[in-house]
Amino acid sequence: MSRSDVTLRPARAEDCARCQAIAVAAWEPIHAERRRLLGPALYAHLHVDWRAAKAAQIARAFEQHLDWIVVACAAVPEQPGRAGLAAEQAEQVVGFVTFRLDRGQAMGTIGNNAVDPAWQGRGIATALYRHALDRFRAEGMRFACVGTGLDAGHAPALAAYRKMGFTAEVPSVMLYQEL
Ligand SMILES: CC(C)(COP(=O)(O)OP(=O)(O)OC[C@H]1O[C@@H](n2cnc3c(N)ncnc32)[C@H](O)[C@@H]1OP(=O)(O)O)[C@@H](O)C(=O)NCCC(=O)NCCS
Repeated sequence: MSRSDVTLRPARAEDCARCQAIAVAAWEPIHAERRRLLGPALYAHLHVDWRAAKAAQIARAFEQHLDWIVVACAAVPEQPGRAGLAAEQAEQVVGFVTFRLDRGQAMGTIGNNAVDPAWQGRGIATALYRHALDRFRAEGMRFACVGTGLDAGHAPALAAYRKMGFTAEVPSVMLYQEL
């Protein structure tokens, strides 16, 4: 990607709403696939209001450990430049990663993370994961882990994690039946 216009920084409390919106938008295809896999009845039963639930997870991360969240920001034009004037640039959050540090186990874990669909495919998640892994090392962690699905909705995340060096894998599956 041309990453010159995207920078990473620690999250601030005021980034929460934007990260919630990114997460909800980014999880739409994951839920479309989950609905296809589960069928409408089971899907509706399991995911009554997933958008609110996802937003609440992000809000909890912001409340509990702001220092365990990094955001990616892009410079976007605030208003079109008028004749002879350069457009005003504003910073917009376009992706984020949450993580946690378990000092007892010396394990860093990547948690909820997403990139605004309009900004995907430009290496932003790669930069966020690299940043998290560097932080784990700097904090004395010996290992890193991340969980994801094996379904098509999670294929971008799975490929991105493998590319980052997460190569020791324990596959898992959830099975359901209607009673
Ligand atoms: C996973 C996600 C964060 C990746 O963000 P991104 O900024 O687009 O990722 P990058 O551009 O850094 O891509 C890194 C690698 O991921 C893989 N990848 C990215 N998008 C992909 C896609 N649509 N299909 C398959 N692989 C993909 C590729 O291996 C890519 O490396 P490459 O460009 O060298 O081929 C983004 O797709 C997303 O927000 N997904 C929905 C939320 C999610 O799944 N979060 C993680 C939950 S476990």
